[in-house]
Amino acid sequence: MLAAAAASAVLLLTTPASAAAPTPGAAGAGDTYYPTYGNGGYDVTHYDIRLKYQPATDRLEGTTTILATATQDLSRFDLDFALPVSEVLVDGHRAAFTTSGEQELVVTPAAPLAKGSRTTVVVRYAGVPSSVSRYGFTAWLRTPDGGVAAGEPESAWWWFPSNDHPSDKATFDVSVLVPDGTQAISNGLLVSQRSQLGWTRYSWRQDRPQATYLATLALGRFDITTGTTASGLPVLNAYSRDLGANDGAARASVERTGELVDWLSGYLGPYPFDSVGGYVPNVTTHFALEAQTRVFYSPAQFAAGSNTSVVVHELAHQWYGDSVSLDRWSDIWLNEGFARYAQWMWSEHENEGTAQELADYVYASHPADDPFWTVKPGDPGPDAQFDIAVYDRGAAAVQALRVAVGDDAFFRILKGWPAEHRYGNATLDQFRSFAERISGKPLGPLLDTWLFTPARPAAGPGPATTA
Ligand code: ARG
Ligand code: ZN
Repeated sequence: MLAAAAASAVLLLTTPASAAAPTPGAAGAGDTYYPTYGNGGYDVTHYDIRLKYQPATDRLEGTTTILATATQDLSRFDLDFALPVSEVLVDGHRAAFTTSGEQELVVTPAAPLAKGSRTTVVVRYAGVPSSVSRYGFTAWLRTPDGGVAAGEPESAWWWFPSNDHPSDKATFDVSVLVPDGTQAISNGLLVSQRSQLGWTRYSWRQDRPQATYLATLALGRFDITTGTTASGLPVLNAYSRDLGANDGAARASVERTGELVDWLSGYLGPYPFDSVGGYVPNVTTHFALEAQTRVFYSPAQFAAGSNTSVVVHELAHQWYGDSVSLDRWSDIWLNEGFARYAQWMWSEHENEGTAQELADYVYASHPADDPFWTVKPGDPGPDAQFDIAVYDRGAAAVQALRVAVGDDAFFRILKGWPAEHRYGNATLDQFRSFAERISGKPLGPLLDTWLFTPARPAAGPGPATTA
């Protein structure tokens, strides 16, 4: 018996890896901040999202078709989703599915998927997104005339099943049927708009890779404006017809998108996408989101008058965040530090304070015992991902980098990084190496001081200030 057991153990050890039994894909993409976000075992290449929406009731129904490639022999896999599902097909065959945790949709295909094989997953669903809460909140924003999907990191769960992590980018088609008089706004180019039987179908296409949190959908009564930038890029903006006193300031800001994107191109390189614009729905929230090619703005941002600064911030993200995306959420500084820094450059351009003055102000206005300095912009933790320190100390870090490497190298880094990783993903470590290569200077100590130390740096972010 002992000898026989030993013999079969040897047999097991020598079995070729390719004959191993298919295994379940992981329930998360391995993110240290959000272990269950995203999934393992496959890579999505395209989402085709085809929906119907009734603004009176907030009912959303339809089908998402996902094109993916298995990255292991898969017995089952997860999607991230929160609406009720009625049917899942994998390569045309009905698949079993269950839900687990807050947002896992666990799919078991009739037959396992072989590593490297391309697969088509169809998910049919219907629900009222504003009534669905996960982790105690709802990222779907209900408006008086419809609804909006916008949030970071979460928003996809309320409108399409996905591999919800920025490390898995894909192209998107989003096509939504709404009652005549309601508009449906999404990313990229509006490729068709057709009415029949009292309903209008809006079909949008994003043909460059897009992270799932950067996909957006807005349904409501909008006034849509179109044009082109001076450099010939199509611009499409949309304003809720219900912005009240904020309408003028919203338009006076967002209508400058074309001018601002061309201005940013001078520093960040060619704009990476084939369309640009923003939308301002009638929501009561206070944030903006750099949805790819179609930025989400809250009316509150325009309550004090025009705000080109927020437009510059969200447009800068099109390079820093959207074209070059995070591989893990802990690297959020790569997005927010640079988007805030772009605002500072715009302030300088507008004679409202130079980047150096603004960085010095951040340093001077927070004394050493201010909890502001306890947040590490390079690793803020999931609860402080969007803390003001990630933005302001993060941008001061960019200024400190600029002072350390000199303007010539700095502007080559600023423009070179989005070119180096265009349409891809990159990490903060890769940024450090890149900046060291371009500047020829070791930057480890400087970045550690500004990004990874929970204390006020001993010296300010420039030649003019010291502690
Ligand atoms: N990336 C966004 C910005 O700074 C922040 C979004 C914060 N998310 C939220 N749901 N409040 O423009
Ligand atoms: Zn931002």
